[in-house]
Amino acid sequence: MCGIVGYIGRKEAHPILLDGLKRLEYRGYDSAGLAISDGKKISVFKSAGKIIELEKKIGKKPISGSAGIAHTRWATHGKPSTKNSHPHCDCNKNIFLVHNGIIENYQELKENLSRKGHKFRSGTDSEVIAHMIEEFGKKYDFREAVMETLKILKGTYGLAIMSKDFPDEIIIARSGSPLILGVGKGEFIIASDASAIIRHTNKVVYLEDGELAVVGKDGYEITNVRNHSIKKKISEVDWSFDKAQKQGFEHFMLKEIFDQPGAVRDAIRGRLVAEEGVARLGGLRNVEEELKKIDKIIIVSCGTSYYAGLVGEYMLEEYAGVPVEVEYASEFRYRKPILNKRTAVLAISQSGETADTLAAIREAKNKGALVLGIVNVVGSTIARETDSGIYNHAGPEIGVASTKAFTSQLSILSMLALKLGRQREMSLVMGKRIAGDLEKIPKLIEKVLKESKAIKKIAKKYSKYGNFLYLGRKYNCPIAYEGALKIKEISYVHAEGYPSGEMKHGPIALIDKDFPSIFVVPKDSVYEKNISGMEEIKARGGKIIAVATQGDKEIKKVADDVIYIPKTLEILTPLLSVVPLQLLAYYVGVSKGYDVDKPRNLAKSVTVE
Ligand code: AGP
Ligand code: GLU
Repeated sequence: MCGIVGYIGRKEAHPILLDGLKRLEYRGYDSAGLAISDGKKISVFKSAGKIIELEKKIGKKPISGSAGIAHTRWATHGKPSTKNSHPHCDCNKNIFLVHNGIIENYQELKENLSRKGHKFRSGTDSEVIAHMIEEFGKKYDFREAVMETLKILKGTYGLAIMSKDFPDEIIIARSGSPLILGVGKGEFIIASDASAIIRHTNKVVYLEDGELAVVGKDGYEITNVRNHSIKKKISEVDWSFDKAQKQGFEHFMLKEIFDQPGAVRDAIRGRLVAEEGVARLGGLRNVEEELKKIDKIIIVSCGTSYYAGLVGEYMLEEYAGVPVEVEYASEFRYRKPILNKRTAVLAISQSGETADTLAAIREAKNKGALVLGIVNVVGSTIARETDSGIYNHAGPEIGVASTKAFTSQLSILSMLALKLGRQREMSLVMGKRIAGDLEKIPKLIEKVLKESKAIKKIAKKYSKYGNFLYLGRKYNCPIAYEGALKIKEISYVHAEGYPSGEMKHGPIALIDKDFPSIFVVPKDSVYEKNISGMEEIKARGGKIIAVATQGDKEIKKVADDVIYIPKTLEILTPLLSVVPLQLLAYYVGVSKGYDVDKPRNLAKSVTVE
C-alpha cells in the first residue's frame, strides 16, 4: 500500500513533503494529499490523480508551516477521488492523519461512531481512525487517545497523525505497513521507505509492528501502545536512491517475488474464518443469493491472469462442484457464448484496464450474465463495470511481469472455491482443512524463497539454452504455462508450456541434449504419471529441472536439477510451485543483462485490443 511522508523541524514543510511524495511515486498510486500546520491552523490539500494535480490545487503560494504529513494513496476502500484521498480528519477538523494499509474492522467501528453522532466524509476505511481518536480525545490527551485507538484497530497500518491542539508533535505508528523515522539535525523526516529520507539524512530509526513514536522538533519518544518506552538504535542507510526505491532489491520484479508472502496475507486478511472453514468475501455481499444459483462459471482473462483462471478451473470444479470454462478474453468476444443469469462470468485482471478483458465482460453483460471480477487496482474500469468482485489488496505491481498479483489471484480463487463449495456440498472438515492450509501458505512461500540462491545457480547453468519445454499436470499444468510465459517475457528465450500428458503427442520430438525441460512434479495425485513422462525425456537425452516436494529423493534419479517446495494440499501447490519458476525466469533474464522490470515490447497494462 502506498506512501507516507512527514516532516517536523525548522524548515518550511511544504517543499520537503512534495519532494518526498515524488520520491515515492514509483510505488504506484492513484491520488495524493498533504496537511501542514503553522502552529495555529492546519492547511489541507488533496487531489485524485498524480502529484502534479495536487500541486495545481496548491498553486504557487507556499503553504507556511514547519510540521506536516503527506500521502500517496493506493485505494483499497473507496474509489480513487479527491474526497477519498488522504489526509482524513475528524468531525471537528482537529485531528488529521494519513494511513497506509487496511483496517479490517472499519465497518464495525464506523457504525459505532455513527451511532455516537460522527459524520463521515469519505468512503475509506482510514477515516474511522481520525474519528476514533476524536472520540477517545474526550477522555484522554492526544497521545493516549491515539494509543487507545490503536489497541482496537484490526488490520494493517502505517500512520502519521497531527492534532491542531498539539501543533509541536506528529505521532507515527506502525503495524504491518512500513514506516521509517529519519533523524536529521533539528528536524525529523518520516516516510514509508528510505527513498524519501536519504536526501536529508542517512540516519534512520526503523519502527517495528506495534510501535509508535511521538516526534517533536527537538526529539522523539518511542513506545508500544501501552506507553512502555522502547529504546531503538539509530541505523545508517547506505542505499542509493535507486536501491532505496526497491527496498534493497536489485529490481522491482525480485522485490515483488519476495513480496508474495505479504501479498497472500493481504489477500486472505479478514476473509478466512478458519474455525468455520469458510471464506467471507465482502465484495460479493451484494450477489450472495445469485451465487447460490449459478450453475456455470466462465473465466475471461489474459496472460498470467488467464493462467490463474486455469488453476481456478480445477479449484472450482473440484471443490465447488460448479462447471467452469476458461477463455482467452480476446477470443471470448468472438464466440457466441450461451449465457444466462445462472452463468457467472468472472474477469481476472491485475490492472483492471486490459482492453480484451473489458470487451469480454461488456459482451457478457449484454447477454445477461452475472459479471464478477478479481481485480487488483481499486476503482479501475473492469472493477467498476462488474456487478460485484473481490480486490486483491496486493498493492501496486511495478514489474511488467506479473508475480505477486498471480499468487494473490490464486489465493482469492481458492477462497472463492471454498465459499461456493461451503454453500454447496463441501463439508466443514474439508472447509477447515483448506482454510487452515491456506493460512500457512505465506510461511511456506518464505521457505521456497530461501532456495533463491540455489535457483540462481541453476539459472546460470541453463541460461545458455535457447529453448525450454515446461510441463505439468492438473493443478500444475497452468503453472507450466505460466513458467514458460515468465521466462519468455523476461529473457526472450523460446519456451512452451504443455500438459505433461500431451508431450508424447508431438512436443517430445523437440527434445535433445540442447532442449531442456522444466517439470512441475510435486507429490500429488498425478506424480507417477509425471515421473514416466520424465523418464521418456531422459531416455532421449533431455535435461530436466524438476520442481518437486521436499523429501522426494526418488526425483533425483530422473532430474538433473531439483528445486524443492514444501508439502501442502494439492489445490494449493500452485501457490508454491510457481515461485521457483518466477525466480528461474528472473535470474536467467538478469544473467543476460536484460531490463527485467521493463522487458522489450511489453506494457504493464495492455489497454489496446
Ligand atoms: C504477465 O506477466 C504479463 N504482464 C501479461 O501477460 C498480463 O498478465 C496480461 O496482460 C493481463 O494483464 P491484467 O492481469 O492486468 O489484465
Ligand atoms: N485503505 C486506505 C484507503 O483505501 C489506505 C490505502 C493505502 O495504503 O494507500 O484509503
